[in-house]
Amino acid sequence: MGAGWVGLVTGACLAELGHEVVVRDVVEDRVRALASGEIPMYEAGLEASVQSAGDRLRFTVDLAEVVDEPRVILVCVGTPAMYSGDADLTAVHGVVRELADVGVPEGTVLAMKSTVPVGTGTTIRKELDDQGLGHVGYVSNPEFLAEGTAVKDFMQPDRVVVGGDDDAAADRVAQLYVALDAPIVRTDVASAEMIKLASNAFLATRISFVNEIANVCDATGADVTEVARGIGLDKRLGPHFLNAGIGFGGSCFPKDVNALKQLAGNSGYHFQLLNAVIEVNELQKRRVVGKLTKHLGPLRGKVVTLLGLTFKPDTDDMREASSLVLASRLIAEGADVRGWDPVAVEQARALLTGVELFSDPVEALADADAAVIVTEWSQIRELPFADVREMMRTPLIVDGRNLLDPAELRKLGFTYEGIGVPSA
Ligand code: UGA
Repeated sequence: MGAGWVGLVTGACLAELGHEVVVRDVVEDRVRALASGEIPMYEAGLEASVQSAGDRLRFTVDLAEVVDEPRVILVCVGTPAMYSGDADLTAVHGVVRELADVGVPEGTVLAMKSTVPVGTGTTIRKELDDQGLGHVGYVSNPEFLAEGTAVKDFMQPDRVVVGGDDDAAADRVAQLYVALDAPIVRTDVASAEMIKLASNAFLATRISFVNEIANVCDATGADVTEVARGIGLDKRLGPHFLNAGIGFGGSCFPKDVNALKQLAGNSGYHFQLLNAVIEVNELQKRRVVGKLTKHLGPLRGKVVTLLGLTFKPDTDDMREASSLVLASRLIAEGADVRGWDPVAVEQARALLTGVELFSDPVEALADADAAVIVTEWSQIRELPFADVREMMRTPLIVDGRNLLDPAELRKLGFTYEGIGVPSA
């Protein structure tokens, strides 16, 4: 249920594993496009996966095709944040109501892939029972797919989590994944729900932690990339998610960290650490401004080019991207802001009002006072920096992702500032 990013990747990969999959969505245009082979988002390997699934993967708007036999129904609908920070479960409850309206056969299992607060399973169990769906098993089966690598993450997962209070239903869901070479964590529903939220919160905590280390490196002359290498070799700590930069974005970390904080608060617990993780991230997105003014003085009338606008490379997703905060901050400072991205210029048009957008990065840098690397697209490494140096009005690079080699750029005559790397 749901042909969004999670539903599509899950559907295509399960079909690739040999299952018969129907992906149902309520948006007719989307379903029509999918049925004719169009993939509405940029996700590496997804098109190939949909194609290789062949007849085992169908798309429909018709709920009857979902309840025609006792299926595992995977709920892959959105759970966006509300103004309160809590997750909005309207679409999740909508699925239960729809199923109750049409009725489902004995042996059907409802499995929750959407990210939901801990306790949602209990609420849904009651809803199912109250609405005449007591025969439907309920399982929490959270997804751990990162955008850009989602197909690989699905096919080669570190683990699959199956939380069920009913063994038969949980067995059925676990069976979907037996072809994968991965441990299956069988647990209760509430713990499965918490594993998802805690995993994202922990990853976000690592990022905010290394960003604070980077900020202290800036103040003391240490190099955060060296520090991360040294930390990461300790097996207890590991090397992942220690890239300092200008903050995390995307549709998951900001929302899920906040949702866990709210969930704790609603349960009477003040989750201090997550407050800090969120605050550090907000401030980190603005750190570039100080680095620009250090070299350029007041930014009024200065031309600043943002390289990379999506929340991370290899996706066209701009949700909660650092570029959004940064662009509006720079505009407020009076800068003339330009933007370049290899895939998201169209998406950016609606979101980055007041930013002049370019599809050619070199053009975007002509006569600029500063280039700011916001997203570490590999194309940025290939830029003809010697030419760019001649074209820019001020040869300043603020590398918000520590993507480039400072020594090489300095040799070419650039002033280079990274995040937590020595600036001289
Ligand atoms: C994240 C998780 O990595 C997935 O495991 C999870 O399933 C997914 O959320 C979800 O809940 O659906 P995603 O948001 O696609 O995946 O992207 P990540 O690769 O985790 O990156 C998130 C943000 O953190 C990006 O803005 C990235 O630039 C930033 N980041 C990541 C850093 O700043 N430093 C790092 O070392 C790693």
